[in-house]
Amino acid sequence: MDILRSRLSSKMDEDVKKFVLSLEVDTWLFDADIQVDRAHVLMLCECGIISKEDAFNVFDGLKKIENEGIASINLSDYEDIHAAIETNLIKAIGEAGGRIHTARSRNDEVATCIRIALRDELLSMFCHINELRGVFIEKSKEHIDTVIPGFTHLQHAQPTTLAHHLLCYTDLFGRDFTRLMNAYAHTNLNPLGAAAFASTSFPIDRKRTTELLGFDGLIENSMDAVSSRDYLIECLCSFSNLMTNLSRLCEEIILWATSEFGFIELDDAYSSVSSIMPQKKNPDVAELIRGKTGTVYGCLTSALSICKSLPLSYNRDLQEVTPSLLRAVKITSSSIRIASKMIETMNVKKEAICDKLDMGFICATEIADTIVRSTGIPFRNAHQIVGSLAKRQKDVKNVRLGEIDNISMEIIGKKLSELGLTEEMLKGAVDVYLAVEAKDTLGGPASKEVKRMLTQRNKKLKHDNLVVQKRISLVKEAMLKLDGATI
Ligand code: ARG
Repeated sequence: MDILRSRLSSKMDEDVKKFVLSLEVDTWLFDADIQVDRAHVLMLCECGIISKEDAFNVFDGLKKIENEGIASINLSDYEDIHAAIETNLIKAIGEAGGRIHTARSRNDEVATCIRIALRDELLSMFCHINELRGVFIEKSKEHIDTVIPGFTHLQHAQPTTLAHHLLCYTDLFGRDFTRLMNAYAHTNLNPLGAAAFASTSFPIDRKRTTELLGFDGLIENSMDAVSSRDYLIECLCSFSNLMTNLSRLCEEIILWATSEFGFIELDDAYSSVSSIMPQKKNPDVAELIRGKTGTVYGCLTSALSICKSLPLSYNRDLQEVTPSLLRAVKITSSSIRIASKMIETMNVKKEAICDKLDMGFICATEIADTIVRSTGIPFRNAHQIVGSLAKRQKDVKNVRLGEIDNISMEIIGKKLSELGLTEEMLKGAVDVYLAVEAKDTLGGPASKEVKRMLTQRNKKLKHDNLVVQKRISLVKEAMLKLDGATI
């Protein structure tokens, strides 16, 4: 018999049963639901709402259900995991099991379970993000002197270093970390005790379940507690942002691994083959991360669309949001993990990069800057002169002062050699290594500046790791205490 359906005269239609159940999500919420049950019952007992004996029996029954695991419950017999656990508890311990739902609704129950399950996912995601940041920092250290062509519009633009390029990702993922930490602060709050939406007339202690479940605070207004999913949307936004950053990285990896670029070779463990073309080594992993970014955006869009215009307070529509959250959190987490290893194991082909350095008149800006510094002519004139030079001559190494003088005569009516420009200065300007070292302003690619950034990023990462460890141990401590709690 369905313990919840006394109001109705017939069983739920079989097809409808499948329709209302969210199997994957309910499996995900199983552990959290047991913990929520424990905390709730312990609090009910401490507040004198149920007897010690009943609470003791409930604890016993919950332990049994926990030990047997989700596999022993045929979820499709129930509307959801909450009904399943309560029914199994009553089966196991009898009447006392029927007291567990005193001063509680599935509305605050599910809201609490989602926050707990999401919290655990976020805590492990923080570790993955920080590993990724660490990988970028280590790789950057190896490539402080690896000069690469930098691109704008995917055209050779100016020389920079691989360390400078990779440090950009360190900073991007550093901000993703901060964004998710902010979302975590809105996630780790307790909605339990809100009951259906109007709270309860039983003298419960909401602060006590907040403490028992390792939450940092509670969602006070009981309507807000059961009906809000904004924290979840915030997480999905942050996942989407992070996946955008990963997709940009993967796009570069895919390009860099082509024969046209040839800047890197991916490790075999992170490569695929072609079933027909025997020579192929394909960057499928990077492509899939790029593709899954779209799936995560879909999850965000779906959550936003479902929550849009929903009247307060609880509506069953909200159940439909959770699968998108679960999907996005799993994809984001695995993408970060895999991207980390892919970057860590990739082989940077320094020689191939070096061969490409002279392409595309990459020192043009440095030549223009040198002209400005040595002759004092306005930058716009120098830009015009070097632009004309680039139109006539593709070989950046062979820039001659005579040629520049001819052009400057046409453009400004003066020879730059007479204004102070020398062959020696030109040679310096076309040397990509010197050009990079000269860019030592704040945030630039010069080794001194990159080393400074590396030290600072390393320090920040260490600090962030400590913050994560502290959060993990706070939650772990609370959960262990709850696990070991006795009546
Ligand atoms: N599985 C449901 C959910 O995720 C539980 C809440 C059911 N509540 C209700 N009033 N029908 O939202």
